[in-house]
Amino acid sequence: MRVGSFAFAAYCGLTLAAPTITKRASVDDCPGYKATNVEDTGSGLKVDLTLAGARCDSYSEDLQDLVLEVEYQTEDRLHVHIYDAGLNQYQVQDGVFPRPENKKTSPSDSLLEFKLNENPFSFQVIRKGNNSEILFDTTGHKLVFESQYLGLRTNLPDNPNIYGLGESSDPFRLPTQGYHRTLWNSESPYLPFNSNLYGSHPVYFDHRGASGTHGVFLLNADGMDVNISKGDDGKQYLEYNVIGGTFDFYFLAGKQPSDVSRQYAEVAGYSPMYPYWTFGFQQCKYGYWDVNMVAEVVGNYSKAGIPLEVMWTDIDYMDRRRDFTTDPENFPHHKMVELVDTLHSRNQKYILILDPSIYAKDRSYGPYQRGDSAGIFIKKTGGSNGEDYLGVQWPGIVAWPDWFHPDTQDWWTNEIIGLFNSSGGIDIDGLWVDMNEASNFCHNYNCNLEEAAVGNPPALTHTPRPNTGRPIEGFPKDFQPGSTTPSVKARYASPVKHRNTLPAAARGMAAIASPQVNSRELGAKKGMPRRDLLTPKYKIQNHVGELSNSTLRTDQANYDGTMQYDTHNLYGHMMGWKTHEAMLKRRPTKRPFVMTRSTFAGTGRKINHWFGDNESSWEHYRLTIRQMLTFVSMHQMPMVGSDVCGFNSPAEERMCARWALLGAFQPFYRNHAEISTPQQEFYQWNLTRIAGKKAIDARYKLMDYAYTGLYRQTTKGEPWIKPLFFEYPEDANTFNIQTQWFYGDSLLISPVIDDYSDTVTFYLPKGNWYDYWTGNKVPELGGANITRSNVSFTDIPVFIKGGSIIPTRLNSANTTTELRKQPFNFLIAPDENGEATGRLYIDEGELIDQPDITELELTWKDGKLSSTGTRDYNPSNGESVEFKQITVLGQDGGSYSDPNTKYDAKTKVSRKTGQWKLNEDFQVSL
Ligand code: GLC
Repeated sequence: MRVGSFAFAAYCGLTLAAPTITKRASVDDCPGYKATNVEDTGSGLKVDLTLAGARCDSYSEDLQDLVLEVEYQTEDRLHVHIYDAGLNQYQVQDGVFPRPENKKTSPSDSLLEFKLNENPFSFQVIRKGNNSEILFDTTGHKLVFESQYLGLRTNLPDNPNIYGLGESSDPFRLPTQGYHRTLWNSESPYLPFNSNLYGSHPVYFDHRGASGTHGVFLLNADGMDVNISKGDDGKQYLEYNVIGGTFDFYFLAGKQPSDVSRQYAEVAGYSPMYPYWTFGFQQCKYGYWDVNMVAEVVGNYSKAGIPLEVMWTDIDYMDRRRDFTTDPENFPHHKMVELVDTLHSRNQKYILILDPSIYAKDRSYGPYQRGDSAGIFIKKTGGSNGEDYLGVQWPGIVAWPDWFHPDTQDWWTNEIIGLFNSSGGIDIDGLWVDMNEASNFCHNYNCNLEEAAVGNPPALTHTPRPNTGRPIEGFPKDFQPGSTTPSVKARYASPVKHRNTLPAAARGMAAIASPQVNSRELGAKKGMPRRDLLTPKYKIQNHVGELSNSTLRTDQANYDGTMQYDTHNLYGHMMGWKTHEAMLKRRPTKRPFVMTRSTFAGTGRKINHWFGDNESSWEHYRLTIRQMLTFVSMHQMPMVGSDVCGFNSPAEERMCARWALLGAFQPFYRNHAEISTPQQEFYQWNLTRIAGKKAIDARYKLMDYAYTGLYRQTTKGEPWIKPLFFEYPEDANTFNIQTQWFYGDSLLISPVIDDYSDTVTFYLPKGNWYDYWTGNKVPELGGANITRSNVSFTDIPVFIKGGSIIPTRLNSANTTTELRKQPFNFLIAPDENGEATGRLYIDEGELIDQPDITELELTWKDGKLSSTGTRDYNPSNGESVEFKQITVLGQDGGSYSDPNTKYDAKTKVSRKTGQWKLNEDFQVSL
């Protein structure tokens, strides 16, 4: 059971130290388990598992008695849970991950079959049907179940197509040899390859071409390595090495890839619908020094004629980086209020950041004081008198809210509402929660707080700048040249130093004895007592070293008696959900928008995610695509995106232009950069200005199409951003594609991929394809690689799949409010039979409860456009629910008697103009 090779570095052309997948030899000597007392429950089994020999205690204590529970929960979902009979091992709290309902299906109705081998214990999960596909098979491998190590291996077919197990920056189709995916949420600047990143999603999709696709979800929040490799016998496997919890598996039968997504949504939850405006273009930067500068960026976008929907401000707005404050000089409260009011009057939105860490060294700082008197901070385990557990973050020495404390929600909500309200407060439209892995600048568990806090809050390097002297269009007098506020005083002395890499000190600390937590209730699923919670013997391949490095010490207890060791991966998820709750309190009827850096399986049920601190590099431009594919189609997080043009390092004009175009076809579209990098707004360069305008124009015209896609994912679980194999599951050419994707059901995006190149080779599956930009039918037959040259830096190849109807707005607009006033134009791209279908969903855009919606199924057949569905949406504020054009691509001939129909012989596109209402039955023919 030892794997040493490391094919991945070669794959990426990287020089990485080859990590070894280590396992103490003694695991191989573990006795495994035997099954007895097999009880048939009618819709499953309940079985006793007993250690089949002497304990091996390889990494910790072997558990003698286990229970195996098998539940046929629905026809396509099988739940297999192996847990300790004493119920001491940690199990994820129900409130954190609500379990799906067990519908108690009869085994004979299930698409899956569970096969038990009693002695030695092993099992198989089989998809019934013609060739009885064995999906999961532990035959030949002993189960190891210890208090701090769980090991289980499944046999796989050779060279399997495995996807998922995010968050990572690794290939979309995971490497199959010498590969490990470590799940342990971590601060991860530059998104290192083959490393654990900010989130943990222990779910994989296994795609077997014509035999189908299935999914395996392990509901376990403990740190783990999932190894994929070949054994000494040359046989392919996937192996779990987990440092706690239980083996709580959900097997999802598929059999189409989208079926697995739907089945996973039933377990991990459906995403909520996001406000329409969240599809608008958004701008942020760490290092917008003052409120005037923020206004200036907004003004510059207007001047450049590039639509900007949402403006963001990073921690710069805070007073010395403290949550729930504003810097009195650079971001005085009254000007922040004025800024938001101005943005709202221009139909723009505003979003601010919060970190979980609360400055703990100033008794007059209200948020700390109130949190402290409510007792909601994580307490130092073994400390005296309810002493807070302290660490270091942006503001200096900090305490962290304990999200398991029953009063934390109220405290957090009150602080949020206290500053961000519409009666004299800053009336933000969304919140961004960051550093919630949780990140700790005290980089190891022995660190000296005072030393680690030096330089925090970081100093600012900018020179005082009340206003650069340029008028800011559409903003009040207070923001115009001549206005004296804000004026920056030299509050901070030393130059700013952003932590771009984790210090070497964060790695490989010598072990110190771990405090023991003895007073644990037994049988409460809160984790075994007497564990080594700081330096467990099985070392997951955490890229920052020991478990506690750059985060909270894992030997700290939560209010409910669980330990950070087991719940670490839930910190960001819980912070995000609590923030969502607070946002609901502020605006109870409106859909909250909360974006989190750290995630766990199921986080997408309430909030969304961006991919953190990437780099302004071509490699990370490409990376964006595979991260988006994994999160949307496999992790049920449909509103995701990367920092467009890259966060760390200076952006370059051509790369940023390409990224502006690529980003327009990812769900969440925000340009963001790090403090020490030059500004990279799209108006900074000529190419990005042109590319940005073009990208936003296309994105906006397509916004209802995207919104319809998102709506479907939120209601059906069917992903709206898809890898090619989802649409062509039997076409083996698609299985490895990680540089193209489907935006909605009908648009295939195939950007130029290579650095500074103007040539791209991409794959077009079999069928009719049309060029989105020209309407021309693609001359090549599908089913082959196609090369396009001379693709300028302001172009991105986009193809329409034959057989599609795409609802578009006839014109774009400066804001989504204006966009909604534009009438529709239906883009019809017929298939080989001259037919097409599509969908359109319309609602009011912001309310949680949408009483009146329009949801149409559109059909193009025999040269006629018609629709079925509900048509109840009542437009207000000048919104349009009309369409004024149909555009039919790929028409042969075109002599129309109707004067409203025009034919372009060069492109073979027919356009018919008129005036039709979506909320009435319609039939339109050419
Ligand atoms: C973290 C975030 C980044 C943000 C910075 C300052 O590095 O990932 O997006 O700009 O903190 O708040």
